Amino acid sequence: MPFLSAALDRVKPSATIAVTDKARALKAAGRNVIGLGAGEPDFDTPGNIKLAAIRAIEAGKTKYTDVGGIPELKEAIAAKFQRENELSYKPNQIIVGTGGKQVLYNALMATINPGDEVIIPAPYWVSYPEMVALAGGDPVPVVCTAAQGFKLQPDALEKAITPKTKWIILNSPSNPTGAAYTRAELKAITDVLVKHPHVWVMTDDMYEHLVYDDFVFATPAQVEPKLFNRTLTVNGVSKAYCMTGWRIGYAGGPAELIKAMATIQSQSTSNPSSISQWASVEALNGPQDFIPVNNKVFKERRDLVVGMLNQAKGIDCPRPEGAFYVYPSCAGAIGKKTPDGKVIKDDTDFVNYLLEAEGLSVVQGSAFGQGPAFRISYATATDILEEAGRRIQRACAALS
Ligand SMILES: Cc1ncc(COP(=O)(O)O)c(C=O)c1O
Repeated sequence: MPFLSAALDRVKPSATIAVTDKARALKAAGRNVIGLGAGEPDFDTPGNIKLAAIRAIEAGKTKYTDVGGIPELKEAIAAKFQRENELSYKPNQIIVGTGGKQVLYNALMATINPGDEVIIPAPYWVSYPEMVALAGGDPVPVVCTAAQGFKLQPDALEKAITPKTKWIILNSPSNPTGAAYTRAELKAITDVLVKHPHVWVMTDDMYEHLVYDDFVFATPAQVEPKLFNRTLTVNGVSKAYCMTGWRIGYAGGPAELIKAMATIQSQSTSNPSSISQWASVEALNGPQDFIPVNNKVFKERRDLVVGMLNQAKGIDCPRPEGAFYVYPSCAGAIGKKTPDGKVIKDDTDFVNYLLEAEGLSVVQGSAFGQGPAFRISYATATDILEEAGRRIQRACAALS
């Protein structure tokens, strides 16, 4: 349609929409559908955080704020970076946005010129390549296999870097695989990056707190201080604090970059919600003891789901270090026939089969740049996960 912008030609519609639409249609037709597609904790926002928001409303903190965030929140973020990541950011090196998503988008919009390349390890969060393309850049996916723990290998990174590389986007723990880099694995990556001073690092640490089995989280600028001046450390309150709807994300980075991101934000959305900002001050400064309590539940669910998936014929599910996703391979189901005679050609066919035969909605791996696989979010009640596991086992057993 000539009325629409040419920028839209560069962006794919979300590959997950077809499956979601189909699930919705089946639900509307009265089918019992289990959705394991959502990327948000099923736990409620803690009471002290809600109370801080109510108090902010009552105190009239309901007006525009500084574009990049209230000083109290920047202070809380600086303290968080120091306490948890050994990173020292000053207030002018911190920005708050309407979710981590907007922070990432602003950073790309503020830096990408036509032809700039952005290295994105695959499987990746669906929005990275689309945001890069919208900003006019070229996403460069680098495949990381299950055998590599879905983690970028230093030699693969070295090969992907060109004179046009502007950024690498790292995401640990990862959406969609749950894979998280140990300090040593990150150091091997940062050792390569140190040799290429034109490459900047965008690290999406959104799932920092969601790690299991005593895994110790680390972030690139902490592991390699030489990268501090060219790293944007992105984080947010959505996942660990169960605040997806509040829409607060933030980043620490070089002051000049942060200022450029604030310029973009000032001409698009201005400040994030004042009320959500005050709630986030409480989230970061208040008690953190609910995080290990939630994590214990997530870990039990992860183990349940991995166990059930590995008992399904043709499915191979690695046990990831963090987040609330698993990313099983369905290679063993490809080429097989469904009871009504359809051949499963790829992971899209497989997830459609799960939906049609068993009313189970998951997302195909091709949406995340690597298949045949699928993503399951286990941020759902345990009894629902048990039922989902039974449905997958039944569906796989019925293939011939
Ligand atoms: C890897 C990753 N980064 C960023 C985000 C964005 O989070 P928010 O915009 O809620 O802060 C998400 C949300 O799903 C995510 O999975």
